[in-house]
Amino acid sequence: MSSGGYTYQYAPDLIPDRTEPGEGMWRWRRLLPLDGSSSYPLRVGGTPLLAPARLRAELDLPGLVVKDETRSPTGSNKDRATALCLVDALRRRAPAIVCASTGNVAASLSAGAAAVGIPAYVFVSKHTVSPHKVDLMRSFGATVVLVDGPYEAAYRLSEAACERLGWYSRNTAANPLVPQAKKTVAFEVWAQLGHAMPEVAYVPVGDGVTLAAFVLGCEELVRCGVADRVPRVVGVQASGAAPLVRAFADGRLEWTPVESHTFADGIGVGDPFYGRQALEAVRRTGGEFVDVGDDAIRAAIALLARSCGLLAEPAGAAALAGALAHRGRPAGEACVLVLATGTGLKDHRWLPRGSGLAIEVPPDVAAFLAHPEVAARAGGACS
Ligand SMILES: Cc1ncc(COP(=O)(O)O)c(C=O)c1O
Repeated sequence: MSSGGYTYQYAPDLIPDRTEPGEGMWRWRRLLPLDGSSSYPLRVGGTPLLAPARLRAELDLPGLVVKDETRSPTGSNKDRATALCLVDALRRRAPAIVCASTGNVAASLSAGAAAVGIPAYVFVSKHTVSPHKVDLMRSFGATVVLVDGPYEAAYRLSEAACERLGWYSRNTAANPLVPQAKKTVAFEVWAQLGHAMPEVAYVPVGDGVTLAAFVLGCEELVRCGVADRVPRVVGVQASGAAPLVRAFADGRLEWTPVESHTFADGIGVGDPFYGRQALEAVRRTGGEFVDVGDDAIRAAIALLARSCGLLAEPAGAAALAGALAHRGRPAGEACVLVLATGTGLKDHRWLPRGSGLAIEVPPDVAAFLAHPEVAARAGGACS
């Protein structure tokens, strides 16, 4: 069950009727197992929902909205689960907190643990982790465990370490608080749409928790009696790590693990730890899976940057790439949600440098005005 076993006495009065400034995800405390509003020091959740005019026009999708999860303490949706798990770890007086990660969970946990004062041990694959993200983890004082194996091996090692040492696991599929925290993004989207659901939602999939939790959040709104349906959810995987796409197409809830080959490190998971729940969740919504190649993800990063001013990392732009893959399907005015889950500011390797120019000039106005790029833009105005 994707809720991790938590259930509530669902009723409309679990939904807050107003927001206090700075509340973020704690606004939904009545639908969360723990309330960190007075104990968690970083501001998490309450991210913007963009209605990007230029992107809408370019794609001819007038109902497109982008949930901008890059506006989070460490620039990814992982900060929600980090917050709830750390509140729990504090309560339990955990001696240390642990995660395995493709990069963003570890960066998020490193920052959150620093803020609350718990030692963090973050396990990553030394072969696929972004060196820039490792620098971030270390900046926050975490101990980075570089594992000589893929992400899945790092995950298993971190779980074994928790078992031996009695440390607290924030692992995505092991800690039931993770989907509880991540479901809040669905609550926010619904509230930001004026208490309405999108028709369809594109969600990137690595382990599958982000997607399963989004669906859980939508379903809880229905159970509370404030929404009448869930959106159709499309799970987006990178073509180089797409075991669930194949399983879904074959109507199976099991998949054949693959070796991950994609630059989208956040979703570079060949054997997802929450895959079954993600497959079941997509099926319940009447949705589907789609895979997108690295070039399509690169194009989506560039498009988000130049048409929305939003810089996403590859995994963060994958959902838009999925929506682009479905371009041409009649959408009309339908509200189409894209989750932008991670910022491009943490790893400069994937910046879409081709979008703009860098021009070199001497410190001289006449030379500047004579530069072909400037003269072309200025027309006759400078002569
Ligand atoms: C930016 C980004 N988007 C999407 C995902 C996928 O989330 P999940 O592993 O919950 O499927 C990740 C996972 O690390 C990520 O970092």
